[in-house]
Amino acid sequence: MLSSPHMGDEEIQYVGQAFDTNWIAPLGPNVDGFETELAEFTGAKYAAAVSSGTAAIHLALLLLDVKPTDVVFCSSLTFAASVNPVMYQHATPVFIDSEAKTWNMSPIALEKALVEYASRGIKPKAVIVVNLYGQSADMEPIVELCNKYEVPIIEDAAESLGAKYKGKYSGTFGQFGIYSFNGNKIITTSGGGCLYQKIRN
Ligand SMILES: Cc1ncc(COP(=O)(O)O)c(C=O)c1O
Repeated sequence: MLSSPHMGDEEIQYVGQAFDTNWIAPLGPNVDGFETELAEFTGAKYAAAVSSGTAAIHLALLLLDVKPTDVVFCSSLTFAASVNPVMYQHATPVFIDSEAKTWNMSPIALEKALVEYASRGIKPKAVIVVNLYGQSADMEPIVELCNKYEVPIIEDAAESLGAKYKGKYSGTFGQFGIYSFNGNKIITTSGGGCLYQKIRN
């Protein structure tokens, strides 16, 4: 979801505390606490704070070793930041259309694209699924398809912190999930983001 921030007494208190304790830079207990509480809230094992949601997507692509020769699928109805990091890696984005029910990535369109690209001998390096305006994509069939074709999911939950799909938090379905704390997001640090990585045991 998108809205302008509301600042209150608690926010002033914590900003004051950061100044008083001189933990403005580089990091400090507030950032550590933020990562821990975010991971606890979403049920994610770990969460790493970064400078923006865009940086979190970029980091996920780097961890997946996305190179200029790679193809990355991405939701078509989204903010440009979902796909910009694909361009930073000079990879090729392929946009997957939305479905009417969720307005997010259509599992039918995704399957068509996976089949089409497989027939050309191309496996996308990742699928970036966006959960726009607080609304989750239909993750069950999307996860099933990506498991079948062995393609990792990066879930762009920049706008959907706190939303749930079938009882589980948005952003925790993919191998990677990202949140944004840009000024117009559900909670904000003015600018910031977070990367969540699912660790398989
Ligand atoms: C869907 C979506 N993805 C990614 C981003 C990027 O987040 P940031 O602005 O923190 O880089 C945003 C918001 O800006 C967004 O709305």
